[in-house]
Amino acid sequence: MFDTNLPDGPSMPTLLRQMKLVFQPLKYLEDFAKIYGDNFTIKNKSGNHTVYFSHPKALEEIFTADASKLDAGSENQILKYLFGSNSVVILDGTPHRNQRKLLVPPFHGDRMRAYGATIQSITQQVINSWQDTKPFNVHNAMQEITIRIILRVVFGLDEGTSTEKLRRSLISLLELVGYPVVSGALLFKFWKKDLGIWSPWGRIIHLIKQVDELIYNHIEETRKNFDPNRKDILSLMMTARYDDGQPMTDEELRDELVTLLVIGHETVTSSLVWALSWVDTLPEVQQKLQNELCQNKLEASELAKLPYLTAVCQETLRICPVGTTCFSRIVKSSLNITGYELPPNTLIIPNIYLAHHREEVYPNPKQFIPERFLERQFSPYEYLPFGGGNRQCIGMAFAMYEMKIILGTIFTQYKISSLKRRPDNSHIKPVRRGLTIVVPPKTQMQATPR
Ligand code: HEM
Repeated sequence: MFDTNLPDGPSMPTLLRQMKLVFQPLKYLEDFAKIYGDNFTIKNKSGNHTVYFSHPKALEEIFTADASKLDAGSENQILKYLFGSNSVVILDGTPHRNQRKLLVPPFHGDRMRAYGATIQSITQQVINSWQDTKPFNVHNAMQEITIRIILRVVFGLDEGTSTEKLRRSLISLLELVGYPVVSGALLFKFWKKDLGIWSPWGRIIHLIKQVDELIYNHIEETRKNFDPNRKDILSLMMTARYDDGQPMTDEELRDELVTLLVIGHETVTSSLVWALSWVDTLPEVQQKLQNELCQNKLEASELAKLPYLTAVCQETLRICPVGTTCFSRIVKSSLNITGYELPPNTLIIPNIYLAHHREEVYPNPKQFIPERFLERQFSPYEYLPFGGGNRQCIGMAFAMYEMKIILGTIFTQYKISSLKRRPDNSHIKPVRRGLTIVVPPKTQMQATPR
């Protein structure tokens, strides 16, 4: 019960609740939704409460609210140690709008489609090694594809020694950032202590310095040998200008490169692993996919148009949205959401996972049914794997395009099966990795040529 007009919610010791959030992220949401419904409030002693919303009407009102009433960057400050203070994710207000203006265009339309052949050929290089039908770690395989794509498409790095050095340093850093203990550190400030290179936090700081040095060297090289015909995102960011005619500084370029790399590869990697895991559990889905793909090699642009492949990607992002919630929004001046009067400093969490599991929108929500997306269209407040409003994912179109080309290339040539498949799907047990929800990282799969 609350003295302000907010949805009801649980009273639970803070530490217990935070442990549940880290170690049982989905149960955390489902348990509260079962008792309190679509919208619920987590009380905070300071009086600045947190409200989770998943009713489509509430989500619509949040995403269409006057942007000046809600901030999100200030709530993402825990990521500043990695992304830097110029990252689009950390900024709010006019600086945020200005960064988005420069970052959004390269991820859309013809510019984005120009990356199709690159995505397809990188996927092919990685999956060529599957010919021997040896089991492989599915997370590592998907990560190898997505990191190579980001380094080529975003950083403009071709194969070579410096690319390999950067790739290895980045993988070490990303592995460490994904450990549950570090996820904890992101949520609990008191764990963030640099106790030297052998402590998790000290090691992260060391690796960030190493990665930064390589990135700044690469920015300098790209400026020195600038080629206006290049289509990679770094080159496009270098030519882009703010409204006042100024270019991005090296620090801004570094911060956006790291942001795009971390967000852009981790989310797509996890989504691909989810897609492979679901398709593996449902032989009829795999069969339908392969019927659509036939055995002729399709061009990237043709793969991206296939309806069943598209529906498989959409259903994957519905049932297992890797970011279970959008970025938190902080109320700056009083805001009414579906009749709840939210005072300043209330934290709003638009909840993707619960919105995607509402029985009345998605009958049998726990079942993987790609056909739902062939039969009807969902509103952006019912289906929101990429969030919404002024913080909607910048890589939305690119991520869908990338997923379709990678999965299409794989399923054209291989049948995929998990080594530990169980009939009740209980081997698909989501775990937290950094800020995303993933298939257990050691999951092994096997690919058999078709
Ligand atoms: C399946 C893959 C992906 C998923 C599920 C995903 C999901 C999301 C979500 C939920 C948000 C927060 C939106 C909100 O709070 O309303 C977000 C933001 C963002 N995403 Fe993605 N994303 C994916 C791929 C990518 C890719 C490939 C890139 C770029 C290479 C990218 C770049 C960003 C950026 C820069 C933001 C911050 C936008 C801002 O603060 O204005 N994402 N994404």
